[in-house]
Amino acid sequence: MNRIAFSILLASAIFVFLGCQDKTKTNAAAIEVNAEQFYKENYRPQYHFSPSKMWMNDPNGLVYNEGIYHLFYQYYPDDIVWGPMHWGHAVSEDMIHWEQKPIALYPDENGYIFSGSAVVDKNNSSGFAERGSSPLVAIYTYHDPDGEKANTDTFQTQGIAYSLDNGNSWTKYEANPVIGNEGIRDFRDPKVFWHNESQSWIMVLVAGDHAKFYRSPNLKEWTYLSEFGSEVGAHGGVWECPDLFQLPVQGSDNKKWVLLISINPNAPNGGSGTQYFIGEFDGTTFTSHQQEARWLDWGRDNYAGVTYNDVPGGERIFIGWMSNWDYARDTPTKEWRSAMTVARELTLKKMGNNYELLNYPLDQFDKIVQPEYKENLVVGGGKTHHFTFDHFNESEIRFRTALREFEIYFSNDSGDTLLLSMDTEREEFILDRRRSGKVDFHEKFAPGVQRMPVGNLPKDPFEIRILMDWSSIEVFINQGQYVMTSQIFPNEFYKELDITNLNSSDLIFLDFKVNVVEPIWDQSP
Ligand code: FRU
Repeated sequence: MNRIAFSILLASAIFVFLGCQDKTKTNAAAIEVNAEQFYKENYRPQYHFSPSKMWMNDPNGLVYNEGIYHLFYQYYPDDIVWGPMHWGHAVSEDMIHWEQKPIALYPDENGYIFSGSAVVDKNNSSGFAERGSSPLVAIYTYHDPDGEKANTDTFQTQGIAYSLDNGNSWTKYEANPVIGNEGIRDFRDPKVFWHNESQSWIMVLVAGDHAKFYRSPNLKEWTYLSEFGSEVGAHGGVWECPDLFQLPVQGSDNKKWVLLISINPNAPNGGSGTQYFIGEFDGTTFTSHQQEARWLDWGRDNYAGVTYNDVPGGERIFIGWMSNWDYARDTPTKEWRSAMTVARELTLKKMGNNYELLNYPLDQFDKIVQPEYKENLVVGGGKTHHFTFDHFNESEIRFRTALREFEIYFSNDSGDTLLLSMDTEREEFILDRRRSGKVDFHEKFAPGVQRMPVGNLPKDPFEIRILMDWSSIEVFINQGQYVMTSQIFPNEFYKELDITNLNSSDLIFLDFKVNVVEPIWDQSP
């Protein structure tokens, strides 16, 4: 890399950054030394959701009900690697702070509890509740390990369970499974929602290389409707964790349907990733003109993400699992494994001839952000601007710029470096974690750089927003038009930041801000 070893330290930067080093509220040193403390273990994300202990993968059953956002998740309580799946459970009132709850669903005679969704059955169509009240109903996949071992093709079926106390306790439906399997090996991850136009429940699930749609009046009896996708989009891996919802197109009266499909392996930067299709859904069939794959997030670590049912304000809120099946089982944490992305709002925008799906942190994320430093930053042609700060691994960095030729380089005293760069010639954004810290726990973690084509950016200044937690980085370009999410395991917090202007004219960063993000966890055990 042609980094220019020239740094300018602005007096204001020294003042502000040194000024915040003795903060007690979010003290980086405390995070490193008090490793025994609750939620302060090495690499423990401070503002992302992670399970208190053991293994987690996909978010499941995302639903809002009576003031509470539920987050269920694929969970194995006995080890920090994948095993017989349960649904773990956490709740939030604001989608920022989370409270851990007891395990919601345990494996039973039908099998492990794989991914799925949850709905508020407002009219008690299922009859699970007393007349006049609304059960919460979970719809999930049963994975029968014996059937799998016996090499049958029928070991994944769909089951349901209900809760009459807003998710605190659950009862499995006695006539499970509600959808059997006629011989499809990968047949899973049902997403169910209420479809107003047809006054019925709609389910989308995946069957190997395509999605299948079903309809039900009562969540118990399902009729097959149609399928989509075996000829379009990416097919380098198996399709998983679908989602289907309608979004308004920003700035118009138009609405479009969006189908999310996770795929593993063979996402653009390797392993797991999430593609989307824009189209129409008429209550029976999903159609789209789109042939090519389009990606919600280009980073290595945003998988199996789905959205909430029944959000009161109508926003479409997305959470993804911040890992990748290539190396998920090997990441260097001890007490727990993996975290979720921050909650993001999905919106649809027409840009040129395309509808683009944007994903961007919820507005309320701002309430845990503490302003630390702000200026209009000018870096001369070929120069580097240098910052020192103890809290990069619990920070938000954001600015607007029109120039697209620069490098952002984080480093620490252990010699770890994390490089973000804009490459104008290739119209690419690059994240290079090859020397970012611990990388050798798996050969697939950092064999190369992660690339994202950014050819469709506006000419006017656009925003770059970076959220860095202890062991993750999320980069949002132009309000979520281009997004890259990646795990990182530096040996200590990054404390140096160099911004290099690769162009010969001045580089202007409007409203360049470095903010500290507060921990979301109650610090007491
Ligand atoms: C996606 C996935 C799902 C499955 C679950 C099992 O990561 O493979 O398809 O339901 O994980 O834990």
